[in-house]
Amino acid sequence: MVEKVFRTWNEVGADALIGGSRRLARQRVPEEFQDLPGLVNPGDPEHVRRFREAAADRDLVIEVGPGKGAFLCAMAARHPGTTMVGFEVRLAFAVRTLRRAVRAGLGNVRVVWGDARATLPLLVDPGTVREAYVLYPDPWWKRSQAARRHGSLLAWVLARVLAPGGLLVLKSDVPGYLAELQTTFLSTGCFDLHLVPPDLPPTDREAKLGMEGGKGFAVALIKR
Ligand SMILES: C[S@@+](CC[C@H](N)C(=O)[O-])C[C@H]1O[C@@H](n2cnc3c(N)ncnc32)[C@H](O)[C@@H]1O
Repeated sequence: MVEKVFRTWNEVGADALIGGSRRLARQRVPEEFQDLPGLVNPGDPEHVRRFREAAADRDLVIEVGPGKGAFLCAMAARHPGTTMVGFEVRLAFAVRTLRRAVRAGLGNVRVVWGDARATLPLLVDPGTVREAYVLYPDPWWKRSQAARRHGSLLAWVLARVLAPGGLLVLKSDVPGYLAELQTTFLSTGCFDLHLVPPDLPPTDREAKLGMEGGKGFAVALIKR
């Protein structure tokens, strides 16, 4: 198998919103998913109002890009008193995660549909999140898509919503991307390095990596 090389390009920045800045205003939940418990459409002011009302004064833990939801649902099962909120840009994955939560009888899972960098500031008040996870984010290998990689916008958005002392865990199987994320997040001046919690449940990607003999790497930061 050919080893993929993670490359950065001077002329390609990060943080281009997926679908562009007007996507949220246009997106509608298809009828077949409208009754799915926990699905939040940040393009709908009524969804935003209900989410904010329900989240107020709750213990909040968030995941950016939960994919098929193994980690989010396992955390929700471990911490029934915590509201676990995924921020997922692909509706199909948001739906998969929520169906998984329903099958497991979990009432404390929500998934917000849209690019986390645009949706987090709309839905979550500053300093209210206890833990945040960005696990195996897409490396967007191609130059034409590299602007979608996470950069300082996500770093500042997460720095804003995390409570002082809040934990942020970043994981990747692409060491170059993880190193870049670590540098970017630390350069905000809002975080310090911390030990990675040893007993986190695996994500879907991590489970697949384990079966294929691949290796994941992790960094943990604490919000100042
Ligand atoms: C490679 S998958 C990893 C999924 C999961 N964390 C895991 O480890 O199995 C990356 C996920 O992040 C989502 N994603 C990518 N960019 C995003 C963004 N800006 N905001 C929210 N979700 C995003 C993708 O749709 C996908 O579900």
